[in-house]
Amino acid sequence: MAPPQESGPLNLLRPLLLLSYSAFYIPHTLFNLLATRNLAPLTNFSSFKDHWFARFWTWFGPRSRESAAAKVTPLIQNNARGVLLDIGPGSGQWLFLFARALNPNITKIYGVEPNAGLHAELRANAERAGLGEIYEVIGCGAEELGSKGGVQQGSVDTIVTVQCLCSIPGPERVIRDLYPLLKPGGKWLVYEHVRTKFREEFVGGWQRESCLVVSC
Ligand SMILES: C[S@@+](CC[C@H](N)C(=O)[O-])C[C@H]1O[C@@H](n2cnc3c(N)ncnc32)[C@H](O)[C@@H]1O
Repeated sequence: MAPPQESGPLNLLRPLLLLSYSAFYIPHTLFNLLATRNLAPLTNFSSFKDHWFARFWTWFGPRSRESAAAKVTPLIQNNARGVLLDIGPGSGQWLFLFARALNPNITKIYGVEPNAGLHAELRANAERAGLGEIYEVIGCGAEELGSKGGVQQGSVDTIVTVQCLCSIPGPERVIRDLYPLLKPGGKWLVYEHVRTKFREEFVGGWQRESCLVVSC
């Protein structure tokens, strides 16, 4: 079932709804880690957070996709080509858009996803989209691509960022670092949260506060 999509003023309650869904996954994650005797993440908050987010996003990602599909599909379909950097793909819920039928000119895809808890689902979605042979997961942050990921400057035809810059620490710096990886004439396909145009009104203040809490 898709989470309710309210319009009008009730839409302002969405960050609270998102927080509640996310909070539900804390006991869920704890239980799973205990049941599988995987206790190490219980002693390291960053690792726990990755497990928690992976569980939450595997459920929530496909639901959020329903509300974004009308904009993301035409953005990516038939627009990506050559060597592609898929930044923060999560569980790979958009990978079907890279399939040959919709994007025949992609030759290689690097999925840059630091959360190892999402890699199994990401690879499975690459296989489902018929991209198993060309989709390679790089398990580091976008900010580490030059040093750890081994991606050369001027070697990429397409960069895709869909709802991920809000999760990356220091997005301005990452944007500056990623640009030189593009070949001349390369494309960056972007679908991200943006600041409301009602900045001086209640909506602007509410967005600032809720973004601090849900980090978007
Ligand atoms: C809100 S999710 C969106 C996932 C996917 N793009 C989608 O639309 O379903 C944000 C993703 O960015 C990833 N992420 C967080 N920090 C990152 C970083 N430094 N570099 C690349 N990806 C990062 C998260 O692990 C997560 O998978």
